[in-house]
Amino acid sequence: MPKLGVNIDHIATVRQARRTTEPDPVWAAALAELGGADAITVHLREDRRHIQDRDVRILRETVRVKLNLEMSIADEIVDFALDVLPDQCTLVPEKREEVTTEGGLDVVGQLDRVRRCVDRLQEAGIETSLFIDPDEKQIEASDSLNVHAVELHTGQYADATDAETQTRELDLLFEAGEEVRRRNMLLLMGHGLTYRNVEPIVEIPEVYELNIGHSIVSRAVLVGFERAVREMKALLNPSITFLSEE
Ligand code: PXP
Repeated sequence: MPKLGVNIDHIATVRQARRTTEPDPVWAAALAELGGADAITVHLREDRRHIQDRDVRILRETVRVKLNLEMSIADEIVDFALDVLPDQCTLVPEKREEVTTEGGLDVVGQLDRVRRCVDRLQEAGIETSLFIDPDEKQIEASDSLNVHAVELHTGQYADATDAETQTRELDLLFEAGEEVRRRNMLLLMGHGLTYRNVEPIVEIPEVYELNIGHSIVSRAVLVGFERAVREMKALLNPSITFLSEE
């Protein structure tokens, strides 16, 4: 069974909508650990749209499972990672205008830049993972950099709107996963996974860990919404007793 890395970026998205202090991703990380998360993932984007430097620094002190920092290969961010020392860094492509990470990192096309970044992180003892498309050339290039792991981008699979495309994308992930394991890198996967589409991914042999964020945060908001309203209603009118409490 794969381990579960929980991405808590969108807890910070809600906080940043008001530039206030709640909800605090540090609290969310603790609750995720209580729920069984094997890793906590945060993406410190160059534009700091959700996770802030402060979050990563505090999480470094509080997270008891693996802390995985998703990041671009920009020097400023690499310097930050070397200062904070997360357990793992996942290198992703980053464009300012994108809503979320759109494709895998082009390791083939910028091999020297990625190598410099990987070397700096690995020399500091940080395990490094590359977020790539399920593509043989990208896997081969990643292997040439001696990275600890690769995370295969499941976005194309998740976005498939018909069964045929979904099966094709799943087959690609199976094949790419086999290649990653043949090369003795740890096999991680993520992006766009939900409560409805995750099960076939779990069947992929030797997939070590899945990184899931948006779907868990979305469900948390709705699963907790009714209780949150009840609690506010009770504050407004303490004499109200709800059926569930009788
Ligand atoms: N893995 C990587 C590399 C990502 O960039 C993201 C999104 O930040 C995820 C996993 C999680 O994706 P989602 O939020 O769609 O579950």
